[in-house]
Amino acid sequence: MPKFQAPRGTRDLLPADATTYRRMSDIASRLSELYGYRPIETPMFEDSAVFERGIGEVTDIVEKELFRIRSPGSDEDRWALRPEATAGICRAFVEHGMHTLPQPVRLATFGPMFRYDRPQAGRYRQFYQWNVEAIGDAGPAIDAELIELALRFVRDVGVQDVELHLNSIGDAACRPAYIAALVEYLAKYEDALPPTERHRLRANPLRVLDTRDARTQAILDDAPTIDAFLCPACRDHFDSLLAHLDRLEVPIHRAPRLVRGLDYYTRTAFELYQRGAEGQQSALGGGGRYDGLIELFGARPTPGVGFALGIDRIAMLAAKQGVAESIGKPVAVVVGADPAATDVRLALATQLRAAGVATGADLAPRKLGRQLEGAAREGAHFAIVIGDELEAGQVQLRDLEAGTQRLVNVADLVRELQRAHASHRHGESDTSPTAT
Ligand code: HAM
Repeated sequence: MPKFQAPRGTRDLLPADATTYRRMSDIASRLSELYGYRPIETPMFEDSAVFERGIGEVTDIVEKELFRIRSPGSDEDRWALRPEATAGICRAFVEHGMHTLPQPVRLATFGPMFRYDRPQAGRYRQFYQWNVEAIGDAGPAIDAELIELALRFVRDVGVQDVELHLNSIGDAACRPAYIAALVEYLAKYEDALPPTERHRLRANPLRVLDTRDARTQAILDDAPTIDAFLCPACRDHFDSLLAHLDRLEVPIHRAPRLVRGLDYYTRTAFELYQRGAEGQQSALGGGGRYDGLIELFGARPTPGVGFALGIDRIAMLAAKQGVAESIGKPVAVVVGADPAATDVRLALATQLRAAGVATGADLAPRKLGRQLEGAAREGAHFAIVIGDELEAGQVQLRDLEAGTQRLVNVADLVRELQRAHASHRHGESDTSPTAT
């Protein structure tokens, strides 16, 4: 075993994975621009209080998962690595007086987050999110815009079977009555609850709803849901959101017990799951409305709504569904019958690259058979075989996946490759299908 390894819960993203992440970041940038969400970058660490106040003192994230940092020479953990982006973005909104900008302020960021959790598949100590926020609009149309955007990202990545779980968790006017009903119900089972959940029941009862403990989950099966407690304003907001989503033809799954793991939410709360894979562990992303958060940072009340998608989990699902396989591979590799004619191969590859086709070239002076083996190993869709036909301006275009081959004019090669590759490839929705 090597002496040094990446810290537990972190991973090196080697070229295959890094390519997938890069592509997702590109899709995120393209969609942010398309929907009018402007980029923002906040520091990787903040005053711990930003997270304690924003996310909530009695949450897993703050109680157990903050990577706290001490300045040299200090005896106090004043800072913490960011476990999520929303609190920092709201801190920046207030600090820079963004309430004077035209509202809502639409912001997006893509980058690493840090949570000291027990590592397992899809749960890391350093993970990546695409985080999108709209601050300054009370909704509900903007809630629908964001939900549709989150689903659009997943669709553009090419991942299938993703379901939207949606709930309203009320607001300061109606939630207290629901919490009282929940506490009354859970109190009957207090002895059966594990110590953590008993602590939660007293300190922050809603958190019990996102327990990871199977016994508590079974007890919760019959617990009251918030639906019956929503006040007229929250009910209207939710009904209108449902109507907007219906108009956008976004299918939803009502999840009456969904509360999210952070305290700042009001009204709209949602999560994305692979169909049939529910449970806190496997959410591909989540978000909701946080109308009270900006106020906690000392500014006047300003509504907000947003989401974050878990890039690592979406990448895992993409790999499972075979979507990631075509990412980052050359569309074609140029090979040739004359091992020594590396100049001809390099010249044709350069010409195709200039036209925007991701092209490899076999530049070793080896036999054609070996060159073709290399092209297949690289995962190229096509091999362009240069032979005697080149004198007549033609090459053989071999489809390595279909095992077919035909003569093509060099002048038509770019168009032919783009057409054949685009019709084959999935998950691509922009207009440059060959630019991998
Ligand atoms: P969150 O639900 O805590 O929400 O995280 C969003 C997503 O990040 C999760 O659904 C999951 O896919 C991914 N994620 C969370 N923890 C890990 C981990 N340890 N390893 C891998 N992936 C993980 C938020 O962070 C909110 N700030 C979302 C938001 C934005 N709400 C409003 N605006």
